[in-house]
Amino acid sequence: MHGCGKKGRCTTCKMIVCSGMEHLSSLNEREEFFRERGRLNEDERLSCQAKIKAGELRIRVAEENKFPHLVYSD
Ligand code: FES
Repeated sequence: MHGCGKKGRCTTCKMIVCSGMEHLSSLNEREEFFRERGRLNEDERLSCQAKIKAGELRIRVAEENKFPHLVYSD
């Protein structure tokens, strides 16, 4: 879900990174904003802000951001 139109203002696009955190860009200003306020844990990133540099990434969607009509894999 991208509630704010990918502007880094809502956290509805939050992803929980299971593996591959090292393949993501550093936290940007918007992610730092939410991290400092306890709304983005160490294993979480905003999918609209983080960029994949290379390699594989394994993520989960945060429970609070799941769509009820979709089935998510583990
Ligand atoms: S879509 Fe709103 S923070 Fe990513």
